[in-house]
Amino acid sequence: MTKWLLVSVLSVVMMVAGCADDTSEEGKTDPEEASSKETEVSEKEDPDLSQAKDRNVSEDGSMIEVEDPERTDVIVNKQRKLPDGYEPPDLTVPEVPFYFDEFHPKKQMRKEAAKALETLFEAAEEEGLRPVAASGYRSYDRQKTIYENSVAENGEEYANRYSAKPGTSEHQTGLAMDITSAEMSFRLKQSFIETEEGKWLEENAHRFGFVIRYPEGKTDITGYAYEPWHLRYIGKELAEEVYEQEETLEAFFGLYPTNQE
Ligand code: DAL
Ligand code: ZN
Repeated sequence: MTKWLLVSVLSVVMMVAGCADDTSEEGKTDPEEASSKETEVSEKEDPDLSQAKDRNVSEDGSMIEVEDPERTDVIVNKQRKLPDGYEPPDLTVPEVPFYFDEFHPKKQMRKEAAKALETLFEAAEEEGLRPVAASGYRSYDRQKTIYENSVAENGEEYANRYSAKPGTSEHQTGLAMDITSAEMSFRLKQSFIETEEGKWLEENAHRFGFVIRYPEGKTDITGYAYEPWHLRYIGKELAEEVYEQEETLEAFFGLYPTNQE
């Protein structure tokens, strides 16, 4: 088997924008943080693409359209886009604290995910924690605006590391929610992991069917920077397994390499 050598050299000072997100749009947040990344070098075996074939992933890195966008285990990433015009069914607003009161479409999630989020929040609150929801469902058009704003403000390379191109965001599935807290001034920043809420989510989200979708040090697989705030619902059984294996969803399903562009 040939070796698939991944060498990513990152030595940049980053202004970290959580999901290059909505929060800035609301004027509540311009998520910014100066942090430096050391050189990262990793070597991997060729990925096993047998499952990838089953799940209809191209081997040459070109974009394919997912056939099962309503499945809770749907994998959407830089190689796998949602069908044009996709809108998830059964969107509802979870009964959890948000950082703003009025209705906004981004408060919504798919019903099953919303119920799971409510249970997660109850458990966190019982332990004296105060997570706050920030951003869930986004339409194609909304993601387009967010992505284009990020490119305009931060440049394409940066935008591609923090913000999905329209049609490729998990937020459009209605299965993702960004979480923050008052301690974070309701911003989405990597330092969230240093807070009690961030740590608790990392250790417990799987018990409720969620994964931290873009883990630290996995940019070469996911294509995105570390986002400790971005929870993705995939169902309890699967989340437990992914957590135990300490895998990204791409690695778990044999769906990488992920196109970095
Ligand atoms: N921040 C994630 C990658 C998104 O924009 O969907
Ligand atoms: Zn997100």
